[in-house]
Amino acid sequence: MDQFTPLDEEFYPDILRGLSVYFDSPFVLNIARTAQKFQRPDLAHALNRKQIACKKWLVDKLVETNGGTFEKVWILGGWYGVLSALMHADQRMTCTTLTSFDIDDDCVQVAECLNREQFSTGNFAAKTGDMLELDYMGECPDLIVNTSCEHLHDFDEWFSKIPEGTLLALQSNDYFGEPDHVSCAENLEMFQAQAKLSQVDYAGELPLKKYTRFMLIGRR
Ligand SMILES: C[S@@+](CC[C@H](N)C(=O)[O-])C[C@H]1O[C@@H](n2cnc3c(N)ncnc32)[C@H](O)[C@@H]1O
Repeated sequence: MDQFTPLDEEFYPDILRGLSVYFDSPFVLNIARTAQKFQRPDLAHALNRKQIACKKWLVDKLVETNGGTFEKVWILGGWYGVLSALMHADQRMTCTTLTSFDIDDDCVQVAECLNREQFSTGNFAAKTGDMLELDYMGECPDLIVNTSCEHLHDFDEWFSKIPEGTLLALQSNDYFGEPDHVSCAENLEMFQAQAKLSQVDYAGELPLKKYTRFMLIGRR
């Protein structure tokens, strides 16, 4: 039987760099760089096929319903900045400034690495902040994305802070089994009852293996 030596730490980054050349993709190259620099198990979680499927679904429906050009975008609970990177990589989208907020300070450097070019040109920023404490009235963006609705211990409080008429893209799920999921919805109707939009551009669900993800796009 052949003897295999253990994989060294260049193994997966090398493959990703090869794919980035084949697809001519700065997005894949940034994933290779970030995966090599920040070897954390939850980075793989943030980039797994379910997470990417949910975020690609958001970008597709956002572009379909509202086009892809935005001046100022805030992504709340943005984690490692995967959605920001997907938005930057998508030819249909132009976001002049995009800021990803997360309450966890460990997310900043990873998100900056994953959004390397836009960070260096000032089009992207990753900030530490509690979405319940942000000033939405003073400098409200033209699009607010929150794909972490299930993590909010007081969804109503957060929702009440958003100025009426603001464009929102929201995701939640029915994955009650996760301890951090303190605000799940049992179904799409329940999510719509939580997030009472004045105008609904899209409401849908994406069934995944262990849970269903819900999405609403529309005006507060
Ligand atoms: C597991 S992640 C992402 C979940 C979601 N399914 C997604 O893919 O976008 C949830 C993130 O929300 C962040 N978070 C939770 N409560 C928050 C708050 N009040 N303000 C900002 N970020 C928050 C957490 O730190 C975490 O990085």
